[in-house]
Amino acid sequence: ENYPQNFPTGFLWGGATAANQVEGAWNLDGKGLTTAEVVKKATNRKKMSMDAVDQVTLHQAINDHTTMLYPKRRGVDFYHHYAEDIKLFAEMGFKVYRFSIAWARILPHGDDKQPNQAGLDFYDRVLTELEKYQIQPLITLSHYEMPLDLTLKYNGWSDRRTIAAFNHYTQIVFEHFGQRVKYWLTFNEINTGTWGFHATGAIDQGLSKQQQLQLRYQSLHHQLVASALATKQLHELYPTDKIGCMLARMQTYPASPKPEDVRAAQLADQKNLFFSDVQVRGEYPAFMNRYFAENKLIIKMGTDDQAILANNPVDFISFSYYMTTVTKADQDGTAVGNMATGGRNPYLKESAWGWQIDPIGLRITLNELWDRYQKPLFVVENGLGAQDKLVNDQIHDSYRISYLRQHIIQMKEAIKDGVKLLGYTMWGPIDLISFSTSEMSKRYGLIYVDQDDLGRGTLTRIRKDSFYWYQKVIATNGTDL
Ligand code: BG6
Repeated sequence: ENYPQNFPTGFLWGGATAANQVEGAWNLDGKGLTTAEVVKKATNRKKMSMDAVDQVTLHQAINDHTTMLYPKRRGVDFYHHYAEDIKLFAEMGFKVYRFSIAWARILPHGDDKQPNQAGLDFYDRVLTELEKYQIQPLITLSHYEMPLDLTLKYNGWSDRRTIAAFNHYTQIVFEHFGQRVKYWLTFNEINTGTWGFHATGAIDQGLSKQQQLQLRYQSLHHQLVASALATKQLHELYPTDKIGCMLARMQTYPASPKPEDVRAAQLADQKNLFFSDVQVRGEYPAFMNRYFAENKLIIKMGTDDQAILANNPVDFISFSYYMTTVTKADQDGTAVGNMATGGRNPYLKESAWGWQIDPIGLRITLNELWDRYQKPLFVVENGLGAQDKLVNDQIHDSYRISYLRQHIIQMKEAIKDGVKLLGYTMWGPIDLISFSTSEMSKRYGLIYVDQDDLGRGTLTRIRKDSFYWYQKVIATNGTDL
């Protein structure tokens, strides 16, 4: 056959986490408070609480010095368990581990002149551990958190000065860790900045819908510029290293063949792909001009911004894939589960959190992104959040195995279709704090962590059935599924 039959050799199998969901140690060794650590656990797991931070709740959180209400201050104590956890990743045969650096561990106030040595030391220890097992690091520079002082000082990314603060941080990180790291990502799921605080670090409660959108797109413009500047910094220091964008790709299907529905779905997809369009092609796509005008949004650009974007496109495209949605012309986005907006698809099953499970959608997504950009792709998140039952120290998570298996099968189909795919890091190889609800009981892991929603438990790590299954998948490079 003159087309690929399997995963390429050197395919990067592994898992992905984020600092604020695993590390804990929120106030140790000089680390500053972050935006993720002022967010409470959701009271309704079907709703997303992450962005409901206003001035009142913010100051309550700042004055609360406990971890009780704020699970992201606890994580799963990776800060002290990293050696044990990486050993387990190695046992599964991981080729790559995606994790993020907490900006506030390196620069506690966000714009300190000198880095916090203890913060650098921690990530050096993590890298040393990975090197022991020849696991390639893939580092996210900003995963849904930033030093809270930048929120207090500048209202986060809404202020242009945050660009300089971020690129001071990235320069330090590249200089310090660059020799040991080949793959980088700038902003996690950059498009979700249109949802608010968790990604923009800008308080926008109390504003009108239009004002919120204005502030969010302006913040995102600043991130796009900062991302391009980070790309420039990395390439100047290490010309062969690779840096990618990261999109929460949410493919949507038209609710019917009615042209109005098809067009509405197309627009919804364009608004999602806008971000990768800028980061890959280096310019704002024309379709956004109309969207901005119709919504009275004005993006203020610095004189050099367009040149910065144009001269520094990313090397590869990474994305998370959890679900698809359905779009109808005359119906403006009812929520699907606790995250995306869009309609339900009668052909799909959904998770307990209402996330619609669509493995074939992953094949469609991979083909679309490859057709659009012809740049290497990397699936850096995919997984099933579920409630696990521990019986006799075992977890029989056949539902998780089945979810991952079906998605890997479709990834293989996409490779046969001709898509160039660098790797796959499933989300949450070890149980961690949920992003959207800050629950512990929404588990993605192949490794169980003994901790409940209130932070009670021994933090013992236990291999689930899916652990052994994924070990076999990696050992056979995806042939034995
Ligand atoms: C992605 C995020 O949106 O989805 C992760 O990048 C997050 O941080 C993951 O954990 C799953 O979402 P949740 O809300 O189930 O944790």
